[in-house]
Amino acid sequence: RFQRRNRPCRYDIDQFMPSFMSIFESLVPSDEEISKQKQLLTALSRLINKEWPNAKLYLYGSCANSFGFSNSDIDLCLSIDDKEMSKVDIILKLADILHAGNLQNIQALTRARVPIVKLKDPNTGLSCDICVNNLLAVVNTKLLRDYSQIDKRLRQLAFIVKHWAKSRCVNETYRGTLSSYAYVIMCIHLLQLRGILPCLQEMDPTYYVTVDNNTCAYFDQVDKLNSYGAQNKDTVSKLLWTFFHYWAYQHDYTKDAISIRTGRIISKHMKDWTRRVGNDRHLICIEDPFETSHDLGRVVDKRSIWTLREEFERAANILQYDPNPSVTLFEPY
Ligand code: CTP
Ligand code: MG
Repeated sequence: RFQRRNRPCRYDIDQFMPSFMSIFESLVPSDEEISKQKQLLTALSRLINKEWPNAKLYLYGSCANSFGFSNSDIDLCLSIDDKEMSKVDIILKLADILHAGNLQNIQALTRARVPIVKLKDPNTGLSCDICVNNLLAVVNTKLLRDYSQIDKRLRQLAFIVKHWAKSRCVNETYRGTLSSYAYVIMCIHLLQLRGILPCLQEMDPTYYVTVDNNTCAYFDQVDKLNSYGAQNKDTVSKLLWTFFHYWAYQHDYTKDAISIRTGRIISKHMKDWTRRVGNDRHLICIEDPFETSHDLGRVVDKRSIWTLREEFERAANILQYDPNPSVTLFEPY
């Protein structure tokens, strides 16, 4: 049903830059919102440290990786070294601490795949989820933020792709489509192939951490790389076209996996991702940069892969032919 094809980009793609940029601007959180997030982090840290002096609370996910929209929920991770308590016990005790601290709508979700406490802060109006000892997420948050500092086109492209995915309902992992985290990785990968971003994990490392026996190391002095992509003059409109073209018409779903760890396309065969194992079907393969056995596409099933590919094709065709792509692309599903 899906054909691979190479077609040249429409000649007038850049005329849509102002409209795509104004969509981007409209989604960026304000400075006021960012300072409210910091305020909440400080208040919660103070409350938690009274009970657990050695625990540390980290922001992760979209409010810390620079790919967050305005009004998004806040993801927090509590790092605590307590051999006596299980994760569930920690979650329950955390919920008690928060109750005493005058926070609202507190729910301890102890049976979720990743157990969390949900809450709402009446002072800032912000809602947040707190997980426990998920430090790999804190580290991959830093990797994404570091990539976004190198070339501003990454953040712009990823915002527009995430906005498209949310408008078209293909950003719902519980229904077999991809996480925001996966879409950002897809954008980084494309910019690596275009020579706009380097591969930080292939450079001499300046940052090292060991998390659950996993060594994470990469070059993180990104202020030294801020002219890295300058020789490539592609606009964000052009990159958007390239992104959807790649996923609609060029990616080889049977043989290829994308990997920002190597900055290359790698073979599914080498990863042993060619057949279904348990619930992991590997129908679209996106390697996690640190947990390399983890395929971010594993949530995709034999029905949702068609939904996704049809949406990639729709987007590619709109960017190629539609007179108003910056409107049509985001029409609600
Ligand atoms: N994460 C992860 N592995 C996944 C999915 C998510 O490690 N398979 C971590 C990442 O650190 C990511 C964070 O969880 O930054 C939040 O993931 P997600 O909700 O997909 O992304 P957000 O950036 O929070 O996007 P949104 O704006 O949609 O909330
Ligand atoms: Mg989130």
